[in-house]
Amino acid sequence: MSGSMTQATTYTLGETFLRELLRELSEGARRHRFEVAPNPAVGAALLAQGRVLARGFHEFWGGPHAEVNAFHAAQLEGVAQQADTLVVTLEPCSSYGKTPPCVELIRSSGIQRVIVGALDPDPRHRGAGLRSLQESGVEVEFVPNASPLERVAPHFLRWVDVDRVRRPRPWTIAKWAQTRSGQLSPPANVGAGRWISGPESLREVHVLRGRVDAIVTGVTTVLADDPRFSVRPPGDATRPPLRVILDSYLRTPPNGRLFEAPGAGEGAGEIHVLCQAGANAARHVALTEAGARVTGLHASEEDHVALRDVQHWMWERGVRRVLLEAGPQLLSRYLEAGFVDQIRVYTGNVFGGRGDSLAPWLATAKLEERIDREVGDDSVFEAFLPTLD
Ligand SMILES: NC(=O)c1ccc[n+]([C@@H]2O[C@H](COP(=O)([O-])OP(=O)(O)OC[C@H]3O[C@@H](n4cnc5c(N)ncnc54)[C@H](OP(=O)(O)O)[C@@H]3O)[C@@H](O)[C@H]2O)c1
Repeated sequence: MSGSMTQATTYTLGETFLRELLRELSEGARRHRFEVAPNPAVGAALLAQGRVLARGFHEFWGGPHAEVNAFHAAQLEGVAQQADTLVVTLEPCSSYGKTPPCVELIRSSGIQRVIVGALDPDPRHRGAGLRSLQESGVEVEFVPNASPLERVAPHFLRWVDVDRVRRPRPWTIAKWAQTRSGQLSPPANVGAGRWISGPESLREVHVLRGRVDAIVTGVTTVLADDPRFSVRPPGDATRPPLRVILDSYLRTPPNGRLFEAPGAGEGAGEIHVLCQAGANAARHVALTEAGARVTGLHASEEDHVALRDVQHWMWERGVRRVLLEAGPQLLSRYLEAGFVDQIRVYTGNVFGGRGDSLAPWLATAKLEERIDREVGDDSVFEAFLPTLD
């Protein structure tokens, strides 16, 4: 492999050109950071004789990797056959995840050279993708510090941090809608006492729901709103997330809308009610008969279901990306415990409201890589939360 931290290296395509291309791909990749997390944000370009033919980015979690999208873009242009070089901000993956390994695609494409701007930070995979390409005769070059993960995907460094790997828990995105004063419930006479954000925001939420393994909520939200937590278009309803209700004493009504069969085009995942071990047997039976799976966990000091157990339970079931759609009580507990990795907050054009406000928490929270945007009449911001020490 050419390129190292210590040696002066000559790159086939010229260092200035490569560094500029990798910088540009890195910035393009970062635009998708909240959609791909906990995966790394990655950008790729296919070149022929030093000329860029096509670019591709990893755009959403579970979706095609940047390399695949670059090949796809080149195919659409009818130029894929000309490509001789792949430039990618991060070493291509060599193991099976949600998609087949990119090194296989590269091998089968006939690409002669792969140039990367960062190595995989995960010690279990570091260098493996490049080695496997080299072994099959592909020339590989590494341009040190050209697309550092500290800049392009710091969230991914947290995800593969040894402490997190040793004590794994799902990547958790807390999403809530708030009024201008930070309350999560509008005044009783607005939005049927429930809706704060508009239809455009709701559509985005369905897309997000289609890209997580589980939705988590608290029983009070179920009692107050009788929600479905289903996925409807434009969300991908074909693989609906588990619906997980934290309900210490099994107060979830077995005749709620959660238990209704999904409508046409709607996806509704398995219902899991997590309670305290030994909760009321008759309610356990009623919920099981309604179609829920009920699991008893330890109690927390506050006499709720213990969140650490919830994290462990989800991880053991293969849940990796979670959407927390809860009211202020459960949300606050998650935030205090440091179990939220990312937030998406919709602020509707509504004044006043009921219940606890999250405004005091937001005023002092350390938010990283925040972006603000408008959706319909709502303002939205997204940010990563640093790991608690
Ligand atoms: N604007 C929004 O985005 C949004 C989203 C969701 C809900 N809401 C609104 O929020 C209101 C409900 O608020 P809420 O705060 O009472 O609901 P919540 O946070 O969703 O649920 C709280 C309940 O969860 C249960 N729970 C289980 N384990 C817990 C734990 N470890 N820590 C904390 N709670 C745990 C507790 O009941 P047990 O002890 O009985 O288990 C607790 O009373 C509703 O009016 C709803 O419309 C708004």
